[in-house]
Amino acid sequence: MARILITSALPYINGIKHLGNLVGSMLPADVYARFQRQRGHEVLFICATDEHGTPAELAARAAGQTVRDYCREQYEIQARAGEAFGLSFDHFGRSSNAPNHRLTQHFAKVLEDKGLIEERTDRQIYSIDDQRFLPDRYVEGTCPHCGYEKARGDQCDNCGRLLDPIELKDPYSAISGSKHVEVRETRHLYLLQSKLQDTIAQWVESKPQWPALTKSIAKKWLKEGLRDRSITRDLQWGVPVAYQGEKRPGFENKVFYVWFDAPIEYIGATEEWAVANNEDWERWWRTDKGAGDVKYVQVMGKDNVAFHTVSFPCTILGSEEPWKTVDALKSLNWLTWYGGKFSTSENRGIFMDQALELLPADYWRWHLMANAPESDDASFTLEHFAGVVNKDLADVLGNFVNRITRFCKARFGEEVPGEGAYGDAEAQLIAELDKRMAVYAGCLEEMEFRKAFAELRAIWVAGNEYLQIAAPWTVIKEDRERAAASVRCALNLIVLFAALSRPVIPFTADKMFVVFDLDPEDAARWPQSAEAALSRFNGGEGFSPPDVLFQKIEDEQVAQWRERFGAA
Ligand code: 2FM
Ligand code: ZN
Repeated sequence: MARILITSALPYINGIKHLGNLVGSMLPADVYARFQRQRGHEVLFICATDEHGTPAELAARAAGQTVRDYCREQYEIQARAGEAFGLSFDHFGRSSNAPNHRLTQHFAKVLEDKGLIEERTDRQIYSIDDQRFLPDRYVEGTCPHCGYEKARGDQCDNCGRLLDPIELKDPYSAISGSKHVEVRETRHLYLLQSKLQDTIAQWVESKPQWPALTKSIAKKWLKEGLRDRSITRDLQWGVPVAYQGEKRPGFENKVFYVWFDAPIEYIGATEEWAVANNEDWERWWRTDKGAGDVKYVQVMGKDNVAFHTVSFPCTILGSEEPWKTVDALKSLNWLTWYGGKFSTSENRGIFMDQALELLPADYWRWHLMANAPESDDASFTLEHFAGVVNKDLADVLGNFVNRITRFCKARFGEEVPGEGAYGDAEAQLIAELDKRMAVYAGCLEEMEFRKAFAELRAIWVAGNEYLQIAAPWTVIKEDRERAAASVRCALNLIVLFAALSRPVIPFTADKMFVVFDLDPEDAARWPQSAEAALSRFNGGEGFSPPDVLFQKIEDEQVAQWRERFGAA
């Protein structure tokens, strides 16, 4: 049994996440966590809200709330939505909680002791009307690269380039809109990443198993040369720049930069989990305390890769303390909404809470994972979604379960029939399933989700084809024993399908186990072989046919949703 630590990129606190965010990190991490638990491994799956920084402050201001209240409320909303989607976090924490404050300050202190942090004078935009500095998104203006007039201080949404606020032309305050701004000097802490160039380069080299996308992003940054980066901001909300409760002189009105403290919350949230459950967090994070044999897997969107392959490693490797570092890093491309961006403000796209008003979680989970944006960006359209749900879930999986349970009930009663023996058709099916199950598990192990779920679909199809050929509804007229054997095989297949499908459609899988009154936790142990799985029931076991597992999506629904969610 292995120990596997899984973290999903932490969703920003500002508002409920859309389907693109979901499939970009939390959902694939969940599927992987569920798979590894079913395999019998000890899994710790950690996530949290990323609560600091200007996006949180601006959103709170727009909502007319204090940032503390805003974050508390939004945390609850995101935690509930995650649960409703079946995201099986062992802990969903908050980066504003005490452990992250303590750890962030700890890392800063250790890095400073190692000579890797220094104070520098910076030039920042100051708003005279607002009487404050305007870091990151607090300032907007014209992009110096593409001329877009609403570029944000940290990034231009039009051309995607990262910016320094003082590069903006015609800057104005995002708080008041005031153009009465000037460049002033302010002191900040810099993490001297340039000194860690060799350390990080060697560490990246030691990860030959990283996927190409991940590795190429890390190498690009290394090739350009690591730049020292400012890790504090002139803000109130965040982790104070203090050591052992003492604020750093001159930094009383400053906090650590959100991207410095956010990844540290992976560790902080583990500590939150440990405190709540009387567990030991260090055995997951400190290689001197037993974390040496942990496999650590991170899942994130491609925009986060540099932060996880370079910046966060600078923090933990720079400390020279024995922290666990990432082993496998899965990064995903973008899911687009009809080829464009999901946008809350422009009411384009579907958000997690809205999705569940329309249909149960498994419909979305299946579609998103089977079409995950892995090798490239992928476009979400309602038409494609409806097609996939109707075909894969309703026609293939749902129909199989409903058809065979109803037929058995009508002709043999509500017990698995024990007559007849398996023959050639079952042997062929078993051979095919064994092959496919090995491929499927291998793809999940590698987090190749599209391939994995194409294989799972093929497994469902194999079951349907078997039933088509075995045709118990015809055969029963002449050979009741033969019909009974194929019905028994098909009923066994339902439990096998449930176990294999549970990582991606957990709610439906559990309904399928309940057909046979099986305890899902027990029945979902990963199947060792098709033969063993198809001999689970030998006859006499009771069952009751379920209600229709998946409703088809009608064209009219698609038309209504297009209107409501702003399809192009
Ligand atoms: O890009 C994002 O959504 C960030 N909130 C991800 C943070 S991941 C981690 F480092 F905290
Ligand atoms: Zn631009």
